[in-house]
Amino acid sequence: MIIAIDGTTASGKGTISKRLSAHYGLPHMDTGRLYRATGVAALRAGVDLTDPDAVAHVARHLDLASFDEADLRTADAGKAASVVAAIPDVRQALFELQRAFATQPIGALLDGRDIGTVIAPEADAKLWVDARVEVRGERRWKELQGQGSDLTLEEVIEQLRARDQRDQSRKDAPAEMAADAVLIDTSDLTIEAAVEKAIAAVEAAI
Ligand code: C5P
Repeated sequence: MIIAIDGTTASGKGTISKRLSAHYGLPHMDTGRLYRATGVAALRAGVDLTDPDAVAHVARHLDLASFDEADLRTADAGKAASVVAAIPDVRQALFELQRAFATQPIGALLDGRDIGTVIAPEADAKLWVDARVEVRGERRWKELQGQGSDLTLEEVIEQLRARDQRDQSRKDAPAEMAADAVLIDTSDLTIEAAVEKAIAAVEAAI
Protein backbone atom coordinates (compact mmCIF):
# COMPACT_ATOMS: atom_id res chain seq x y z
CA MET A 1 0.00 0.00 0.00
CA ILE A 2 1.25 3.49 -0.87
CA ILE A 3 -0.18 6.55 0.89
CA ALA A 4 0.61 9.97 -0.60
CA ILE A 5 0.16 13.00 1.65
CA ASP A 6 0.72 16.37 0.02
CA GLY A 7 -0.23 19.84 1.10
CA THR A 8 0.87 23.30 2.10
CA THR A 9 3.47 24.39 4.64
CA ALA A 10 2.38 24.23 8.30
CA SER A 11 -0.93 22.64 7.33
CA GLY A 12 -0.49 19.72 9.74
CA LYS A 13 0.74 17.45 6.94
CA GLY A 14 3.80 16.32 8.92
CA THR A 15 1.87 15.44 12.06
CA ILE A 16 -0.84 13.60 10.13
CA SER A 17 1.84 11.70 8.19
CA LYS A 18 3.62 10.53 11.35
CA ARG A 19 0.37 9.38 12.91
CA LEU A 20 -0.82 7.55 9.79
CA SER A 21 2.53 5.88 9.27
CA ALA A 22 2.30 4.46 12.83
CA HIS A 23 -1.37 3.53 12.39
CA TYR A 24 -0.76 1.56 9.19
CA GLY A 25 2.74 0.34 10.08
CA LEU A 26 4.18 1.92 6.93
CA PRO A 27 7.69 3.37 6.63
CA HIS A 28 7.50 7.16 6.29
CA MET A 29 9.56 9.52 4.15
CA ASP A 30 9.30 13.25 4.80
CA THR A 31 10.39 14.38 1.32
CA GLY A 32 10.58 18.06 2.31
CA ARG A 33 13.65 17.03 4.30
CA LEU A 34 15.48 16.20 1.05
CA TYR A 35 14.86 19.69 -0.33
CA ARG A 36 15.68 21.33 3.00
CA ALA A 37 18.94 19.35 3.21
CA THR A 38 19.83 20.36 -0.35
CA GLY A 39 19.18 24.02 0.45
CA VAL A 40 21.15 23.95 3.69
CA ALA A 41 24.06 22.02 2.14
CA ALA A 42 24.21 24.51 -0.73
CA LEU A 43 24.20 27.49 1.65
CA ARG A 44 26.93 25.88 3.76
CA ALA A 45 29.08 25.26 0.68
CA GLY A 46 28.64 28.87 -0.39
CA VAL A 47 26.80 27.77 -3.55
CA ASP A 48 24.61 30.35 -5.27
CA LEU A 49 21.04 29.01 -4.90
CA THR A 50 20.14 30.33 -8.34
CA ASP A 51 22.92 28.35 -10.06
CA PRO A 52 21.06 25.22 -11.25
CA ASP A 53 24.13 23.10 -12.09
CA ALA A 54 25.89 23.80 -8.82
CA VAL A 55 22.77 23.12 -6.72
CA ALA A 56 21.96 19.93 -8.66
CA HIS A 57 25.51 18.74 -7.93
CA VAL A 58 24.85 19.29 -4.22
CA ALA A 59 21.56 17.34 -4.48
CA ARG A 60 23.29 14.38 -6.17
CA HIS A 61 25.87 14.16 -3.38
CA LEU A 62 23.64 14.68 -0.36
CA ASP A 63 24.68 12.99 2.87
CA LEU A 64 21.39 13.05 4.76
CA ALA A 65 22.94 11.73 7.96
CA SER A 66 25.11 14.83 8.27
CA PHE A 67 22.21 17.16 9.14
CA ASP A 68 20.93 18.11 12.52
CA GLU A 69 17.12 18.05 12.53
CA ALA A 70 17.05 21.52 14.13
CA ASP A 71 19.16 22.98 11.29
CA LEU A 72 16.64 21.71 8.73
CA ARG A 73 13.60 23.17 10.48
CA THR A 74 14.57 26.85 10.47
CA ALA A 75 12.71 29.47 8.39
CA ASP A 76 15.86 30.00 6.28
CA ALA A 77 16.09 26.26 5.52
CA GLY A 78 12.43 26.23 4.44
CA LYS A 79 12.96 29.18 2.17
CA ALA A 80 16.16 27.74 0.66
CA ALA A 81 14.29 24.43 0.13
CA SER A 82 11.55 26.07 -1.90
CA VAL A 83 14.10 27.96 -4.01
CA VAL A 84 16.15 24.86 -4.89
CA ALA A 85 12.95 22.79 -5.35
CA ALA A 86 12.12 24.88 -8.42
CA ILE A 87 15.24 23.60 -10.23
CA PRO A 88 14.29 20.64 -12.50
CA ASP A 89 17.72 18.95 -12.19
CA VAL A 90 17.41 19.05 -8.40
CA ARG A 91 13.99 17.35 -8.56
CA GLN A 92 15.46 14.81 -10.97
CA ALA A 93 18.39 14.11 -8.64
CA LEU A 94 16.00 13.42 -5.74
CA PHE A 95 13.42 11.47 -7.77
CA GLU A 96 14.99 7.97 -7.65
CA LEU A 97 15.48 8.12 -3.90
CA GLN A 98 11.79 8.88 -3.40
CA ARG A 99 10.61 6.46 -6.08
CA ALA A 100 12.64 3.59 -4.57
CA PHE A 101 11.18 4.36 -1.15
CA ALA A 102 7.63 4.50 -2.52
CA THR A 103 7.87 1.16 -4.30
CA GLN A 104 9.47 -0.96 -1.56
CA PRO A 105 7.57 -4.23 -1.11
CA ILE A 106 6.20 -3.48 2.38
CA GLY A 107 4.55 -0.29 1.16
CA ALA A 108 5.22 3.30 2.16
CA LEU A 109 3.81 6.63 3.20
CA LEU A 110 5.43 9.72 1.71
CA ASP A 111 4.61 13.34 2.39
CA GLY A 112 5.52 16.35 0.29
CA ARG A 113 4.10 18.45 -2.53
CA ASP A 114 4.15 16.18 -5.60
CA ILE A 115 3.83 12.66 -4.21
CA GLY A 116 0.33 12.03 -5.57
CA THR A 117 1.07 13.71 -8.91
CA VAL A 118 4.70 12.83 -9.78
CA ILE A 119 6.44 10.49 -7.34
CA ALA A 120 3.66 7.94 -6.84
CA PRO A 121 0.68 8.74 -9.08
CA GLU A 122 -0.44 5.14 -8.56
CA ALA A 123 -0.77 5.62 -4.76
CA ASP A 124 -3.70 3.79 -3.18
CA ALA A 125 -4.75 6.79 -1.11
CA LYS A 126 -3.96 10.47 -1.67
CA LEU A 127 -4.59 13.32 0.73
CA TRP A 128 -4.11 17.05 0.25
CA VAL A 129 -3.74 18.74 3.63
CA ASP A 130 -4.36 22.48 3.83
CA ALA A 131 -5.54 25.22 6.19
CA ARG A 132 -6.21 28.96 5.97
CA VAL A 133 -2.95 30.89 5.67
CA GLU A 134 -3.67 32.86 8.87
CA VAL A 135 -4.07 29.62 10.82
CA ARG A 136 -0.91 28.12 9.33
CA GLY A 137 0.94 31.37 10.04
CA GLU A 138 -0.02 31.29 13.69
CA ARG A 139 1.10 27.66 14.06
CA ARG A 140 4.44 28.35 12.36
CA TRP A 141 4.95 31.58 14.33
CA LYS A 142 4.52 29.75 17.66
CA GLU A 143 6.97 27.08 16.52
CA LEU A 144 9.52 29.71 15.47
CA GLN A 145 9.11 31.59 18.75
CA GLY A 146 10.07 28.37 20.52
CA GLN A 147 13.30 28.52 18.49
CA GLY A 148 13.99 32.07 19.69
CA SER A 149 12.92 33.77 16.45
CA ASP A 150 11.84 37.42 16.64
CA LEU A 151 9.77 37.43 13.43
CA THR A 152 6.30 38.96 13.81
CA LEU A 153 3.14 36.97 13.00
CA GLU A 154 2.57 39.20 9.95
CA GLU A 155 6.08 38.48 8.66
CA VAL A 156 5.58 34.75 9.07
CA ILE A 157 2.25 34.86 7.20
CA GLU A 158 3.93 36.87 4.43
CA GLN A 159 6.71 34.24 4.18
CA LEU A 160 4.13 31.45 3.93
CA ARG A 161 2.31 33.26 1.14
CA ALA A 162 5.59 33.74 -0.74
CA ARG A 163 6.48 30.05 -0.26
CA ASP A 164 3.01 28.88 -1.42
CA GLN A 165 3.30 31.12 -4.45
CA ARG A 166 6.78 29.82 -5.33
CA ASP A 167 5.75 26.16 -4.85
CA GLN A 168 2.52 26.48 -6.84
CA SER A 169 3.87 28.52 -9.73
CA ARG A 170 7.04 26.59 -10.55
CA LYS A 171 6.96 24.85 -13.95
CA ASP A 172 8.33 21.49 -12.86
CA ALA A 173 6.07 19.49 -10.50
CA PRO A 174 4.16 22.44 -9.03
CA ALA A 175 2.56 21.80 -5.64
CA GLU A 176 -1.01 20.92 -6.52
CA MET A 177 -3.80 18.66 -5.38
CA ALA A 178 -4.04 15.48 -7.48
CA ALA A 179 -7.41 15.08 -9.20
CA ASP A 180 -8.09 11.96 -7.12
CA ALA A 181 -6.88 13.32 -3.77
CA VAL A 182 -9.13 14.01 -0.77
CA LEU A 183 -8.87 17.47 0.81
CA ILE A 184 -8.34 17.61 4.57
CA ASP A 185 -8.76 21.19 5.79
CA THR A 186 -7.27 21.35 9.28
CA SER A 187 -8.12 25.05 9.95
CA ASP A 188 -10.81 24.32 12.53
CA LEU A 189 -9.78 20.82 13.59
CA THR A 190 -7.82 19.56 16.58
CA ILE A 191 -4.91 17.25 15.76
CA GLU A 192 -7.01 14.28 16.91
CA ALA A 193 -9.94 15.24 14.68
CA ALA A 194 -7.67 15.84 11.68
CA VAL A 195 -6.00 12.44 12.12
CA GLU A 196 -9.41 10.74 12.39
CA LYS A 197 -10.58 12.45 9.23
CA ALA A 198 -7.39 11.46 7.40
CA ILE A 199 -7.75 7.81 8.46
CA ALA A 200 -11.40 7.82 7.35
CA ALA A 201 -10.34 9.18 3.94
CA VAL A 202 -7.66 6.52 3.56
CA GLU A 203 -10.12 3.78 4.59
CA ALA A 204 -12.58 4.99 1.96
CA ALA A 205 -9.87 5.00 -0.72
CA ILE A 206 -8.34 1.56 -0.14
O1 C5P B 1 7.29 20.26 3.60
P1 C5P B 1 8.44 21.18 3.87
O2 C5P B 1 8.05 22.51 4.42
O3 C5P B 1 9.53 20.54 4.67
O4 C5P B 1 9.07 21.43 2.41
C1 C5P B 1 10.03 22.43 2.19
C2 C5P B 1 10.01 22.85 0.73
O5 C5P B 1 10.49 21.77 -0.07
C3 C5P B 1 8.62 23.17 0.17
O6 C5P B 1 8.28 24.52 0.34
C4 C5P B 1 8.78 22.82 -1.31
O7 C5P B 1 9.31 23.90 -2.04
C5 C5P B 1 9.81 21.72 -1.31
N1 C5P B 1 9.23 20.40 -1.53
C6 C5P B 1 8.93 20.02 -2.82
N2 C5P B 1 8.46 18.77 -3.08
C7 C5P B 1 8.27 17.90 -2.09
C8 C5P B 1 8.53 18.27 -0.74
C9 C5P B 1 9.01 19.55 -0.50
O8 C5P B 1 9.08 20.82 -3.76
N3 C5P B 1 7.85 16.66 -2.38
